[in-house]
Amino acid sequence: MKMTVLIADKFPDKYIQQLTDSGLEVIYEPKTGENELAEKAKFVDILIVRSTIVNETTILSSQNLNLIVRAGAGVNNIDISAANKKGVYVANCPGKNSIAVAELAIGLIIALDRKIPHNVMDFKKGEWNKAEYSKADGLMGKTLAIVGFGNIGKEVAKRAQAFGMNIYVKDISRVEGYGIKDFSEFDKTLPIADVVSIHLPSTPETKGLFNDKLFGYMKEGAILINTSRPSVIDEDALIKAVKEKNIRVGLDVFNDEPEAKSGKISSRLQELDNVYVTHHIGASTMQAQNAVAEETVNIIMDYIKSGVIAHWVNKAKMKENYYQLVVKHYDKPGVLASILNELRTGNINVEEVENIIFDGAFVACCTMKLTSPATEEMLKNIRNNPDVLTSSHVIF
Ligand code: 3PG
Repeated sequence: MKMTVLIADKFPDKYIQQLTDSGLEVIYEPKTGENELAEKAKFVDILIVRSTIVNETTILSSQNLNLIVRAGAGVNNIDISAANKKGVYVANCPGKNSIAVAELAIGLIIALDRKIPHNVMDFKKGEWNKAEYSKADGLMGKTLAIVGFGNIGKEVAKRAQAFGMNIYVKDISRVEGYGIKDFSEFDKTLPIADVVSIHLPSTPETKGLFNDKLFGYMKEGAILINTSRPSVIDEDALIKAVKEKNIRVGLDVFNDEPEAKSGKISSRLQELDNVYVTHHIGASTMQAQNAVAEETVNIIMDYIKSGVIAHWVNKAKMKENYYQLVVKHYDKPGVLASILNELRTGNINVEEVENIIFDGAFVACCTMKLTSPATEEMLKNIRNNPDVLTSSHVIF
């Protein structure tokens, strides 16, 4: 029986064809919404989504679902804890659309500095306003604070360097090697930043990060860009900062973004003159979408051929302390079962296991990560098996 893949969002034809050519049965339903997904995904083995929400009902009611691939970076639209409960792999395509998002962030910075959208709208209305639109400051020598220095933040930094901007970054990860200054305190950097660009994932730690306090640190008239996730900004605080401090804002994401790909939109951000909102198109260049789709196909092919999941996001982190048992043995049926039986006598749980075979297929080496240590007695019994060559037991 063929494995079935449901693609629930827009996906390039070339890569749909590649999946079909590899023997998969592909169902392409790019307009699927959150509420229809459970029904459509009920009997599929693999699900590919972009921003369509994969909720608990979809995951728990699925009969065969094994792998969800997020054709993009952020996995906040997938209920990971439901996936964990059912042992469904979740993978993403990190870095593949970073350049596209960085290009949009830079575009929004320039658009705000030069008021390009206003400029164009006036022209279309038949208004000539050179006097008004000649007041832009320019970006050369301006200070840019990049909040979040992952794949996207780094691409923004490279481009801003070409504009001669003075760059500060804030991240939990290391920033060495980029010739860029780190800053640890918002209260030191936000007051000197002319432009702040946010590139953070949506996590409990980043939720509402840009609140009244952080807007309080920002310079009057500074530019704020958010092409990451809406949750990192407290929208009430943002609106207040726009009104009271003339913060100029470029957003590709905002609260209550419509799920549908087209339709009407109503948001209180529409009333604010200095807020430019784009349609969550950061990742939506053909270049980025092809790169993401190629990676998605690679993930699926690897999974089918070898069972290995690249960019597997819901793999448990190994505990700080674990016990590793390495047994070299003759490659014969029953050896592994005898080792596992021995561990079972002490109720020892094996969390990870890998068995590799040496060339010639006479000898194999099995590495097991255990939740508690094997006893001397168990190790002795394992070594006494005539099919076991050596064993070692290490505590990490
Ligand atoms: C991402 O996380 O990759 C971006 O937000 C892109 O989202 P999209 O695939 O819905 O455009």
